[in-house]
Amino acid sequence: MTRVAGAVAVVTGGASGIGRGIAEELIASGASVVVADVERSAVEATAAEIGAVPVVADVSRLESVQALADAVVERFGGVDIVVNNAGIGPSGLIADLTMDDWHWIIDVNLYGVIHGVHVFLPLLEARGGGHIVNTSSMAALTPFQTIGSYAVTKFGVAALTEVLQAELATAGSPVKATLLLPGSIRTNINQSSRNRPEGNTGALSDAKIGLEFSNSSRWLEPRDVGRITVRAIEHDDAFAVTHPDRWPAVAERFARIEAAFAQYPPIETGA
Ligand SMILES: NC(=O)c1ccc[n+]([C@@H]2O[C@H](COP(=O)([O-])OP(=O)(O)OC[C@H]3O[C@@H](n4cnc5c(N)ncnc54)[C@H](O)[C@@H]3O)[C@@H](O)[C@H]2O)c1
Repeated sequence: MTRVAGAVAVVTGGASGIGRGIAEELIASGASVVVADVERSAVEATAAEIGAVPVVADVSRLESVQALADAVVERFGGVDIVVNNAGIGPSGLIADLTMDDWHWIIDVNLYGVIHGVHVFLPLLEARGGGHIVNTSSMAALTPFQTIGSYAVTKFGVAALTEVLQAELATAGSPVKATLLLPGSIRTNINQSSRNRPEGNTGALSDAKIGLEFSNSSRWLEPRDVGRITVRAIEHDDAFAVTHPDRWPAVAERFARIEAAFAQYPPIETGA
């Protein structure tokens, strides 16, 4: 079990939405929290409101994540919990996307998590234990039209986290990892273009990520995700699920994959 009370935690994308909700619940459970975000005014305002320490960081840049880690270690002497959560959720048809589109979303949503794991894992190991939470999405289990590039990044985060869990266990590491799989959460993700780098252009635009789920799923608040995440950290859960009512859609996808396997008889090699 990872202890949250007394822990030092870093939450990327902590200025808004799910990151803020997780930070608030970590603080309510007795952790000292650094909220890191690319939006200076928002991260400073949020930190002041919730009692966290603000750091301006761009997760798409390795050197910025390294500077974040240096700032946390300098202030607190180490880190116990890292929540790689910063992300964007624009949408657009795959056929329309520019290479700028692909680089923007992969740099933030996938490289952001890769940078967080690369920089913070050695610090957690050095501390003798700790916990990593990586924010993926239901999109990693039930991808749908218009969010292809987003789903690519969230599948990547899921693969990274599941393999990391297995490798940590094999190595007997005291570090644990949780894959966070949010469904529809009321956040500012529908204004993701506010953080698009200048000069980066393309077809991705702000749309209603999550709306696709809204007919069959409840909308939750960021602090609901915060409570679920704190519970998952404390129980060292491999997966943290916000919308268990979405299981039938996941099962339906796996049933289609199972049916495809059944269609193909085993091949006799060399025959
Ligand atoms: N809202 C949902 O329904 C939902 C569902 C599944 C997954 N998610 C995931 O949750 C995470 C948080 O999103 P949210 O819904 O809270 O949106 P949000 O826009 O409210 O918060 C995202 C935060 O990330 C920050 N950010 C963006 N680019 C950054 C960068 N390069 N470096 C550092 N910070 C950056 C933003 O400034 C913002 O504060 C994302 O990874 C998103 O994909 C959201």
